[in-house]
Amino acid sequence: MNPAPPDIAATESLLAFWRDAGVEACFGDAPVDRTWVAPPALKAVTKATASVAAPITPALAADALSEARRLAASADTLDALGQAIAAFEGCGLRSMGARQAVFCRGNSEGDLLVIGEGPGAEEDARGEPFVGKAGQLLDRMLTAAGLLDRAFITNTVFWRPPGNRTPTPEEQAVCAPFVERAFALLQPKAVLLLGAAASKSVLRTDVGIMKLRGQWQDWRLAEGDVSAPALPTLHPAFLLRQPQAKRQVWADLLSLAERLDAGEGKTGG
Ligand code: URA
Repeated sequence: MNPAPPDIAATESLLAFWRDAGVEACFGDAPVDRTWVAPPALKAVTKATASVAAPITPALAADALSEARRLAASADTLDALGQAIAAFEGCGLRSMGARQAVFCRGNSEGDLLVIGEGPGAEEDARGEPFVGKAGQLLDRMLTAAGLLDRAFITNTVFWRPPGNRTPTPEEQAVCAPFVERAFALLQPKAVLLLGAAASKSVLRTDVGIMKLRGQWQDWRLAEGDVSAPALPTLHPAFLLRQPQAKRQVWADLLSLAERLDAGEGKTGG
C-alpha cells in the first residue's frame, strides 16, 4: 500500500509551531516522519527496536577517549589538530544535529589561549567559535584590553550541543585530549577560561564560577611539562543578560593583560 502523499501545508504549519515553541535542533541522524501511523502489527516491532538502541556504555566511552587521545597526540600542528577533530567520531554531540566541527579562530602563534563552553547556532553555521552575539562582545572586550590579536580561541567541545544546552562532563571529557593538545601546541603564556562549564572542565573543579572568577589558577598537563596560569572569568553570554557584571570581567582582563605584559606566565616547555 502506497503511503498517503505528505500534506505540505500541515507540515509547514507544524514546523512553524515547533519553531515558535523554541524547537530548533535535530537529535537524530535521520529524519523521522511523525505523520506516519504504524499499523498495529508493526507498532510492537518499532517499540522493540527502539528499546535496543545502543546506550553509551563505559567501554564505548573508554574507546572513544583512547581514540581521541591517539588522534590528538598524532597532530603536530594546530592545523593538523583541526583535521583530527573533524575526523573524530567519538563525541556524541556529533550526531545530535551539529552541522560541522568548530575548532578555533584567532592567532595560532598568540600567547593567549581563550577557552569557551561550546559552539552555538552561529558558530555551527559558520564553523568558527565565538562569532555570534556573545563572540562579538568577547571581541570588543579583548580589543579594548589590547588582547584580541594575541588570542587563539577555542571551546571545550567542538560540536554544537542541541538547543545550546551546556555540554555534559562526559562530552567535555571525550574532547579534552584535543583541548589539551591545543594547549601543548600553542604553549600560551596565559589561558582565559570563559564561564563555569569551561572553568570546571579545564581545572577539574566543582567550585562555582562566582568564587573562581578573577582567581589565578595553575593549569598543568599530566604529561609533557606543559603549564600556564589560567584565569576563570564570566562568560560573555552571561554578560549579555547581566551587563552590570561587565566590570568584573573588565577587571579580570586587565589582570590578564598585566600578567601577559609582565611576561611572567610561561612555565612549561
Ligand atoms: N559560547 C561559547 O562558549 N562558545 C562559542 O563558540 C560561542 C558561544
